[in-house]
Amino acid sequence: MTDQYYKKFKIQSTSIATIAPSLVTANLWAKQYGLDIMVVSDEIWYNEPLLRIINQKFPIEIGFIIRIPPNTIYNWHIDGTRAAGINLKLSGDSVSHTMFGEKVDDWNDKFTELDYEFKNFYLFNTQTKHSVINFSSYRYLFTVQFSQTKDEISYQEIYNWCNSEGLFDE
Ligand SMILES: [Fe+2]
Repeated sequence: MTDQYYKKFKIQSTSIATIAPSLVTANLWAKQYGLDIMVVSDEIWYNEPLLRIINQKFPIEIGFIIRIPPNTIYNWHIDGTRAAGINLKLSGDSVSHTMFGEKVDDWNDKFTELDYEFKNFYLFNTQTKHSVINFSSYRYLFTVQFSQTKDEISYQEIYNWCNSEGLFDE
């Protein structure tokens, strides 16, 4: 069971996945939490039917793109403020692995991989330990930050609502 880590949505990207190549060439990257991030305008994510639905229940503060350079591991971490993200991997050709970890002992972690499919959005539990290993080209990922922080809302609450609305892929 991987539902405690991530869940795939039924409604695919209709816009961002297609226009991503032009978005990422805009050189507006800033450093945050050791990542290159680029905020995208609200109109861009508002074109996504899925995000419009979720935004009515859980307001989205910002949408942004995260860039990881070649041959880089973004180390195990838990996000500082986000309870969850809605993620869409943009670069279909880059090789990377996204993992959720559970401690076994002081030397070992068991991991569960999220193998992103092109154009599919995923609810992502940013409050469980996760890491990305990225190979030889830039990796781009679209994600969102909800207005409510991890102290105000949980992955499970968002999950339960999305599930009750029939938004998840079975
Ligand atoms: Fe993270």
